[in-house]
Amino acid sequence: MPGAAGENVADAHIAPAPRVSVQAFCETVETAATIQAAGEDRRLGKAHVKIQMGGIAAAMEAYNSSPTPNVILIETDTRTDDILSGLDKLAEVCDAGTRVIVVGRVNDVKLYRELTRRGVSEYLMMPVGTIDIVRAICGLFSAPDAKAVGRIIAVVGAKGGVGASTISHNIAWAIGRDLALDTVVADLDLPFGTAGLDYNQDPPQGIADAVLSPDRVDTAFVDRLLSKCTDHLSLLAAPATLDRVYDFGADSFDTTLDSLRSTTPCVVLDVPHQWSAWTKRLLIGADDILVVAGPDLANLRNAKNLMDLLRTSRPNDHRPHYCLNQVGVPKRPEISPADFAKALESDPVAVIPFEPQLFGPAANNGQMISEVSAKHKTAEMFREMAKALTGRAEAKRSRGGLLSPFLSKLMKRAG
Ligand SMILES: Nc1ncnc2c1ncn2[C@@H]1O[C@H](COP(=O)(O)OP(=O)(O)OP(=O)(O)O)[C@@H](O)[C@H]1O
Ligand SMILES: [Mg+2]
Repeated sequence: MPGAAGENVADAHIAPAPRVSVQAFCETVETAATIQAAGEDRRLGKAHVKIQMGGIAAAMEAYNSSPTPNVILIETDTRTDDILSGLDKLAEVCDAGTRVIVVGRVNDVKLYRELTRRGVSEYLMMPVGTIDIVRAICGLFSAPDAKAVGRIIAVVGAKGGVGASTISHNIAWAIGRDLALDTVVADLDLPFGTAGLDYNQDPPQGIADAVLSPDRVDTAFVDRLLSKCTDHLSLLAAPATLDRVYDFGADSFDTTLDSLRSTTPCVVLDVPHQWSAWTKRLLIGADDILVVAGPDLANLRNAKNLMDLLRTSRPNDHRPHYCLNQVGVPKRPEISPADFAKALESDPVAVIPFEPQLFGPAANNGQMISEVSAKHKTAEMFREMAKALTGRAEAKRSRGGLLSPFLSKLMKRAG
C-alpha cells in the first residue's frame, strides 16, 4: 500500500532531510507519481525534488554536460547486467558526494552486493510506496543513531483557554520524569506564554533570543537559552512581555527547531491558538500533533477543521491525536466524547475531567498535576498520554518479542 499511514509510530520516525537536490529518472508513470508524492511529504519540504522520465539513459545524457545533484534516484526495468553497466557509465559523470538510489524489479543477492560495491546507497524493490522513498532519501542525511533524536510533538488548542498549555506542560513533564527521555518544552506563545509560571521558572533568556536573531542560532547558543526544570526536562521560555509585537514569518522558527531537534530526543511545542503562516507550518511539520478541545460546538467545529486540514497536508503520517479537556463542568450542557469520536473519526487519547480543585492550585503554585497529587487519575492520564505521543505504548507491547530470544538463550544455557 503506497504511503501506508498509521504504521508503528515509534518505527515510523523519519528525520527530515536538509536542503538537498534530488533528481529522479523514472521508467514508469507509477514510480514517477510515487516520487512526486514523496517530494510533497513534510519531511522533504526543504529538499528540491525534480522528476523526469527515461531511466538511466536519460540520467547519463543529463549529466554529460551538467553537474550532478546531491541525490540521483534511478528506476530501472532491466536485468542485472544492464543495470550494472548502466551504473558504471553513470559513475563516470557523477560528481563525488552524489548519492545514488536505485529502484528496480530484480530481487537478487548478487545484484545487491554488486550495487553496494559500486557505492549505491540504497536499492528499493518495486513496487515502492511514498514513505519508502521518503525514508530512503532522509536516511541518507541522518546519523545512524539519529533515530532517537528529534521527535517534535506539537500541542494546540481548538479554542483559546481550553487548557492546551497546561496539558502540553504536564505531558512534557511526564515524558522527562516517567519515560526519562530528555525533553525541551518550547513556549511559542511569546507575549502571553505560561510555561515559566507553570514550572515556577523565571529565566532571563528564552525562545525570543533565538527567534529574533536566527543568524546566531546553533546548538550551543540554543543550549544556553534553556532553563532546567527537572533532570530530563528543560524549558525554552517565552518572554511574556508586551514591549514589542511578535509578527513572525512562516519559517521564523525553523533554525531554532532544527537545532533543538538535532540534540534533544523530544521537543514539545506549546503552540498558541492562532492561525498564521508559522503556526500552520509548525503543526504540519511536527512528528506528532495533539489537538486539545473542550466539549462544546465551537471546539468540535474547530477541531474537525484542524484535523481535516492536517490529515490532508500529511498524507503519509498517522492522523493527529486529540483529547477532550475540562469535561463535566456542573450544569453545563456538553457534547459527548462519543459524538466527538464520530465527527473526528477517531477516539480521543484522553478525556480529562474539569477539576478546578486540582488544576487551580497547580496553576497558582507553579506545580504540575503530578506534584500536587501523584496518585490522582488525571496524573496517570498524563503519563499515558506521554507514552502514546512518544510511541512508547507500542514499545512496551513489543517488549515480549525482544526479550524472548534472550530468554531462550538463557534457558538453553541452563539446560
Ligand atoms: N481539566 C481542567 N480542569 C480545571 N481547570 C483546568 C483544566 N485544564 C486547564 N485548566 C485551567 O484552565 C486555564 C487555562 O489553561 P491554559 O492556559 O493551559 O489554556 P490554553 O488553551 O493554553 O489557553 P490560551 O489560549 O490562553 O493559550 C488554566 O488556569 C488552567 O489551570
Ligand atoms: Mg496556551
